[in-house]
Amino acid sequence: MENLLNVEHLTTVFRTYDGEVTAVNDVSFHVKKGEILGLVGESGCGKSVTSLSIMGLLPRKNSKIKSGSIVFDGKELTTLHRKGYDELRGNSLAMIFQEPMTSLNPVFTIENQLREVIRNHDRSISKQECRKRILEVLNKVGIPGAENVMKQYPHQLSGGMRQRIMISMALINHSKLLIADEPTTALDVTIQAQILQLLKMLAKEEEMSIILITHDLSVVAEVCDRVQVMYCGRFVEAASREEFFHNPQHPYSKGLLKCIPEIGMSDSELYHIPGNVMHPADDKGGCSFAPRCSQASEHCFGEVAPMREISPGHFVRCWLYDDEKETKTSEGKEETYVSAGNEGPESPLSDEK
Ligand SMILES: Nc1ncnc2c1ncn2[C@@H]1O[C@H](COP(=O)(O)OP(=O)(O)OP(=O)(O)O)[C@@H](O)[C@H]1O
Ligand SMILES: [Mg+2]
Repeated sequence: MENLLNVEHLTTVFRTYDGEVTAVNDVSFHVKKGEILGLVGESGCGKSVTSLSIMGLLPRKNSKIKSGSIVFDGKELTTLHRKGYDELRGNSLAMIFQEPMTSLNPVFTIENQLREVIRNHDRSISKQECRKRILEVLNKVGIPGAENVMKQYPHQLSGGMRQRIMISMALINHSKLLIADEPTTALDVTIQAQILQLLKMLAKEEEMSIILITHDLSVVAEVCDRVQVMYCGRFVEAASREEFFHNPQHPYSKGLLKCIPEIGMSDSELYHIPGNVMHPADDKGGCSFAPRCSQASEHCFGEVAPMREISPGHFVRCWLYDDEKETKTSEGKEETYVSAGNEGPESPLSDEK
């Protein structure tokens, strides 16, 4: 599968009263055609800022992409002018959010809004043809009674329905990449499952690539092909879904997985990772997870580890997996993915169970 999106060394900063804050720190990743990539990590770790950087939707007044490259469908986006971005967003790039109401216009019917989307592509299309296409797409995204729904306003629909309408816009546009930022957080579990099935269908049948941002690892387990774990603006682990759930390596990933409650657990058995996510302004160098990690050594506080490939396609950023600290330091190449032996240390959490 070819890469639809290639992000290299992306750094995004905010100007704040405390000075410049790095929200996304030298991030590199890719998304293949038709795959669903899960972006996970605790609140504030930079998932949304990464996606807004790709979408060209960063707040202009206090943020910017400081360095790096974002190549989407063969096109460099970091140097793209506003008009170019507007065209991309109306076509091959789409984004959906937790609350779809914020993206829908409350004073237009669903039909009117979807017709506008179609007419952005084809001004000559007749009202009749538009209707046919809208009905087709609404049926495809599983909206019951599509004829009626078309005549309704967004506030008359449920959250799940509204999210389906947003997804149908991406379908109408034949979007190549859909970034879904917590798309199911506000929905009940039944509707969540339906929306996730819909996303899977889009990836499989329409070959749409999807970046799915979520806190919920059960969502990742359900639909994602690969997982990237983010912590304080950096990726700390990247792996296939199977590898991530069966063989997680970074202490933070292990902690996240350990936080998933199981039925029948007593209160005392519920686990949480001690401490809180550090604010990027407090980053003094070194691994940002070190203050919360039971296996951190002095080295971890002094310097950030490189991303290391510990088995094919499985990358970890942790000194526990490094056997060439000195070599790496002298090269100073932080984001270079280096191969290392496959012998990771024991889980720092396994002995705590
Ligand atoms: N407009 C802004 N001004 C200043 N800092 C910001 C702004 N937006 C985000 N940040 C900072 O960037 C960092 C990353 O934020 P981001 O919204 O990407 O986190 P997130 O991983 O999406 O979290 P959540 O899971 O809560 O949505 C945070 O430390 C946040 O404080
Ligand atoms: Mg977010």
